[in-house]
Amino acid sequence: MNKVAASILSCNNAYLGDSVVAANDAGVDFVHIDVVDGAYCGNFSFGPKTVSDLKRLSKAPVEAHLEMYDPQCYLDIFFEAGPDMVTIQSDSSACVLRTLEAIKRKGINAGIGFNSSVTIDQIKYYIAHADYVVLLCVEPGFGGQAMNPCIYEKVRAVRDFVDREGIATQIFIDGGVNEETGAALLECGADVLIVGSGIFTGDDILRDDIVANVRRFKSLADG
Ligand code: DX5
Ligand code: ZN
Repeated sequence: MNKVAASILSCNNAYLGDSVVAANDAGVDFVHIDVVDGAYCGNFSFGPKTVSDLKRLSKAPVEAHLEMYDPQCYLDIFFEAGPDMVTIQSDSSACVLRTLEAIKRKGINAGIGFNSSVTIDQIKYYIAHADYVVLLCVEPGFGGQAMNPCIYEKVRAVRDFVDREGIATQIFIDGGVNEETGAALLECGADVLIVGSGIFTGDDILRDDIVANVRRFKSLADG
């Protein structure tokens, strides 16, 4: 069954908890927290305290998407925060496979994120080592960007590869997902749509809007 995750990067931080509760109440499948460190992709966002606070608040599982360099140096502090899933970027360090193994040893689902420029061959090298892949369709670090259309071919290729090889790794899509691109990505074989500004757009967004937005993406995912 296809799923929808709410990415809080674009959320008005003054209403973070209420926004996550609204997304939960609307049935979101998990909460996606981008940890952006100021160095990897030119923005700052959330840290381990946000992960632990939202983990306590959220009924839905919580994913920490580490868009930062050298995540292997900070694993303990993120493990203590208690996320259900941790995603590292394929170009974030020279020991990506060891880092994925360290995450899995903690009983946490381990994901690997690929920027748009990463080729299918590179993805194939890593894919069986992760519980899920996060295919980014935009440059990392900022919400509200337009999706790079190269993603469609990539999702189809990854879907074919995973099915052909009998690999259980799931395919998540992150960045630029709206109802139109989301429908096309599901057609191409995506398992999970990670949606940021499509759920939380606007500084004055109301609880009812968040609920309605999550429900729209959920019914898209349910087909
Ligand atoms: C980009 C992040 C995404 C982002 C998606 O660096 O990884 O999770 O929040 O936001 P939208 O859906 O607005 O593109
Ligand atoms: Zn993300």
